[in-house]
Amino acid sequence: MEINTSNETYFGIDLGTTNTVVSKGNVLFNGLIQSQIIQIMQVDENKCPTTEFILPSVLYVDENGKEYVGKIAKNIKSQASKKVLYNTKRYIGSNKTWSLGNSEYTAKEVAKQILKTCRDSMKRYNQGKEVENVTITVPASFNTDQIKDTKDAALEVGFKIVNLIPEPTSALIDFINEQSNLIESQRQVDLSKPTRILVFDLGGGTCDIAIVDVTQEGRKVEFTEVAIGRYDELGGIDFDNKVALVKLNEFLDLYNLDYYSLNKEDRERMVRHLRIFAEKAKERISSDLEMNCYFGESFDHYVMNFYGEDPVQFCINKEEYDECIEEFFIKSRDSNKRSDEENKKNIVDPILNTLRDYNISKESIDYLFLTGGMTKYQVVKDKIRNILDLKENQVINSTDPLSSVAKGAAIYDYYETIINRVERYTGENEYNEEVSVTEEKKFELTRVLAEAIMIDVKEGLPVIIINSNQEVPYEGKLKGALKTTSPSGVEINLYAGIDQYDSKMRIQRKYKAYFKTPKKPGTPIDIDFSIDKDKYLRLSVDVNGEKIELKQEVDLKEKDAM
Ligand SMILES: Nc1ncnc2c1ncn2[C@@H]1O[C@H](COP(=O)(O)OP(=O)(O)OP(=O)(O)O)[C@@H](O)[C@H]1O
Ligand SMILES: [Mg+2]
Repeated sequence: MEINTSNETYFGIDLGTTNTVVSKGNVLFNGLIQSQIIQIMQVDENKCPTTEFILPSVLYVDENGKEYVGKIAKNIKSQASKKVLYNTKRYIGSNKTWSLGNSEYTAKEVAKQILKTCRDSMKRYNQGKEVENVTITVPASFNTDQIKDTKDAALEVGFKIVNLIPEPTSALIDFINEQSNLIESQRQVDLSKPTRILVFDLGGGTCDIAIVDVTQEGRKVEFTEVAIGRYDELGGIDFDNKVALVKLNEFLDLYNLDYYSLNKEDRERMVRHLRIFAEKAKERISSDLEMNCYFGESFDHYVMNFYGEDPVQFCINKEEYDECIEEFFIKSRDSNKRSDEENKKNIVDPILNTLRDYNISKESIDYLFLTGGMTKYQVVKDKIRNILDLKENQVINSTDPLSSVAKGAAIYDYYETIINRVERYTGENEYNEEVSVTEEKKFELTRVLAEAIMIDVKEGLPVIIINSNQEVPYEGKLKGALKTTSPSGVEINLYAGIDQYDSKMRIQRKYKAYFKTPKKPGTPIDIDFSIDKDKYLRLSVDVNGEKIELKQEVDLKEKDAM
């Protein structure tokens, strides 16, 4: 049986904290898959339609309540306006809401607006038909609540089949796909023997790490995630915040002002302006360095409506910038002895902790693969290479750090669609000899959970239901660890962490199940759980033979507004 895929298009979305990028994959005449990013329709600052390869992950609601995602919203954000929502991906998986216009938005709602904008554009590349299958990327370290919200958001905007894959792995798939399309002498990595690659993805909001073993056998490439970094909210936003803070303090000192004597509105506006200044400065210095046209000059910028009537000038040069961000490259000390100063976020801890938690030596890393907008900054690249004691020829820069994650997703979507179709033709997992599966099934991905999933049993330590480092999909039953306390229902708190003793254990949302018939307090409860390959978790309880699915209820991790 031959499966004809030549006319089909496969789609991927990198739903980033700062930028969203969409890709399409097509099969070339020689059977290889080629992935490209596509233009996304949006409107510009004058409300005129425009198409761009990048969709800023920013939502703006105008005075008539009309919602816009993308360029216009980013432009309004650049005026330090409060009429936009951005960086909301950091809050996905929680019930935190913001008011904008006359509506309330959760991070999931914002994600839906972004995905809807993407889906409208994808149609143009799909012969005018609505796209139903898509692969969306998520940070490797997303917990099951964050996964659930992302997948549900995609289903709710009309996608029918949604695959989720880790962002770092996706970028690596794109790179390996490009490599395998090249002749051997042009390849950057030798895939003739098993190769271990540490993928470091530093974007706008997340520092994401995946250590992946890549093995090639003929046309088949296997990706095995051997370690995943824990969720780390560190990205370009934090670098911008730090520089903004330094500049604000300089300004206050110069004018002899006290921060807290300013009114809240003024303070917030000043910080918003300075964050934008910091982001622009970073991107300018970095681009000038990249093009060898940085001559030590400072980046100067006049900020209107900052303080008083006159515009205020801010400047920064590379040396000053590097000094401001130095703290992000300093490892924190032993957690027991940490002072506040040492507890700051940095890029060293996530790397060293991932190696330690999974018992992986630095020496076993063959290559470092860098992706994400922040790795365009040379200092960041050098620091990571030094942390891992790697030589220059062991560092691979993604061809385009802003689009590689998205491109990998369309490639994955192709293989996933093909595998599913082959399985449908041949019966579940029973490959029929006549089907050319090995030819088609070129990429295989094995995934692990970054953190264990635990439940609170009221007395004593939480009980692990799924171990960290567990390969997914996975399912099981936890018998009798919980007992009913109320006749009407049960409430379960989920935690994510390395194990029960983890000091950084995070509480996820609360789950509740209501019994159909009252239960005697003290009745043992069995918990059935299943986690699919996308890390989508389903829980149900079994009390005296009555099976009830658990639903998420109350948010337990409210955070301050951005
Ligand atoms: N030339 C550059 N030099 C330095 N930083 C840059 C450059 N271009 C973009 N950035 C920064 O990269 C970040 C955005 O990167 P990217 O698009 O990879 O993030 P994202 O995918 O939206 O976020 P995440 O992966 O964290 O969800 C922003 O902080 C942006 O300022
Ligand atoms: Mg990203």
